[in-house]
Amino acid sequence: MRDYYIAGNWKMHKTRSEAAELAGALAAQLKDGKHKYLVAPSFTSLETVGAIIKGTNIRLGAQDVACEEQGAHTGEVSVLQLKDLGVRTVILGHSERRHIYKEDDELINKKVKLALKHGFEVILCVGELLEEREAGKAEAVCETQTAKGLAGVALEDLDRVVIAYEPVWAIGTGKTATPEDADAVHAFIRKVIARLYGQAAAEQIVIQYGGSVKPENAAQLMAKENIDGALVGGAALKAETFVPIAKFG
Ligand code: PGA
Repeated sequence: MRDYYIAGNWKMHKTRSEAAELAGALAAQLKDGKHKYLVAPSFTSLETVGAIIKGTNIRLGAQDVACEEQGAHTGEVSVLQLKDLGVRTVILGHSERRHIYKEDDELINKKVKLALKHGFEVILCVGELLEEREAGKAEAVCETQTAKGLAGVALEDLDRVVIAYEPVWAIGTGKTATPEDADAVHAFIRKVIARLYGQAAAEQIVIQYGGSVKPENAAQLMAKENIDGALVGGAALKAETFVPIAKFG
């Protein structure tokens, strides 16, 4: 049985005091939550938020990490620095990293392997653009991003990998994939994992859905067989909207 995993990606929002306020509210209101939870604030708020959620049922995540351990990489943040702050999870290959900052599958794969080597859990994001969906290429895009993102990742490390299916056309647009459409892609991604790692691994891997998840649609999405959680953007910025998603059903 897979556990539901609800993650909040705060993107480039919130000062430290705003982040502290939200983290405090979530720590209090999710205390009795039954699922696995994560918040991923900006790098600048990691230490502040980490101190507030320490010892709670909410994990600390970062939104990205550099592909090298350390060195002359102006503007980047390394796995060693994240580990030092108590970060346990990194989100990699988010569509904003892929499409705005032109990260390709090779770079993302380097980051995935480095993060796993350092003991992190990785949330690997995959998902098609609207034109790719309209051209009937949604599955092919997800297959390529999954297989290339995980290239060289050993089966024994796969239990620290979560996939987030985030159709790019649904991110921040208010348009959600229907639970049926999302579930179909999730089932397909599970098949890709079965081909790469075997059936048992495919049954165990957690696949989150992301893209305009809200309190109103969370329960219908989570009810689907292959949807094991959510990666939430806009609705993760307020306790009033994140808590009902986190406690769906
Ligand atoms: P959204 O973002 O919930 O605002 O659509 C999801 C994400 O990008 O992870």
